[in-house]
Amino acid sequence: MHFQWYPGHMTKARRMMQEDIKLIDLIIELVDARVPLSSRNPDIDQLGQNKSRLILLNKSDLADEKYNKQWSQYFKEKGYFVASVNARNGDGLKSINSVIQQACKEKIERDRKRGILNRPVRAMVAGIPNVGKSTFINSYAKKACTKTGNKPGVTKGKQWIRLNKSLELLDTPGILWPKFEDQAVGLRLAFIGSMKDELLNTEELALELIGFLVKQYSGVLSARYGLDEQEDRFGVLKDIAENRHCIQSGGKLDTEKAANMLLDEFRNGKLGRLTLEFPE
Ligand code: G4P
Repeated sequence: MHFQWYPGHMTKARRMMQEDIKLIDLIIELVDARVPLSSRNPDIDQLGQNKSRLILLNKSDLADEKYNKQWSQYFKEKGYFVASVNARNGDGLKSINSVIQQACKEKIERDRKRGILNRPVRAMVAGIPNVGKSTFINSYAKKACTKTGNKPGVTKGKQWIRLNKSLELLDTPGILWPKFEDQAVGLRLAFIGSMKDELLNTEELALELIGFLVKQYSGVLSARYGLDEQEDRFGVLKDIAENRHCIQSGGKLDTEKAANMLLDEFRNGKLGRLTLEFPE
């Protein structure tokens, strides 16, 4: 994971996005359905002015279905086209073709009036690291292996993947940088594993996650680890260690190991489909 974003990185990412955006009609922005706001950089709204916009709530398989629906509604109300997908197994990908046509309706109509028929929509995928951009491009383009190569004049040096006769995708995604507006955003990105764990105190992170789960998803921890959620957070972590036999050589409970295990299980969906932030 490359999560140390400092001005140099940011400036480069922004410059590349600005160049690529000139070539396209539509931005397909991926966010993590578990943290749809924390995993997006709102600067894209300014970068992508005048472009059609589609937001994909990716990893929807890991997020609470009830909130997937609410988040879809939330973004639709803000004027974006939206779809919930699972880029890993391909769920929801078929349906986005028609959403893309809708999102680009005005452009297609404009072309038609100028006598341009059947010019494919050009799109780019964008998002912060780890939201599933490469996975999405691979799954979505699986059947369409025709790379159209360089198009003189217009797209020098760029590779396009022709998905069908009405859609071409830039084969390299636009990388946005995460925006740490407050600590809560950083914490959510750490929960989903989008920050270097070495830089974090795993036990502290696990205690924060325990606090969140007990409050928002009561019963989840007790069902999985057979523990009492009324205890304080460290007591809960010790119970997880006991339940999973995380014991150090001297017989002491290994709470660090338990913390790592809890985070892994959460990230892999073993605790169920859980959303970490909710629309207002
Ligand atoms: P990026 O290009 O935006 O940086 O993300 P990338 O595609 O590398 O995906 C990051 C991780 O998220 C990968 O897991 C990928 O398999 C996983 N992923 C992507 N989309 C989905 C989805 O819809 N659902 C789920 N559950 N996972 C998804 P990884 O552990 O890094 O790699 P691997 O285990 O797949 O090898």
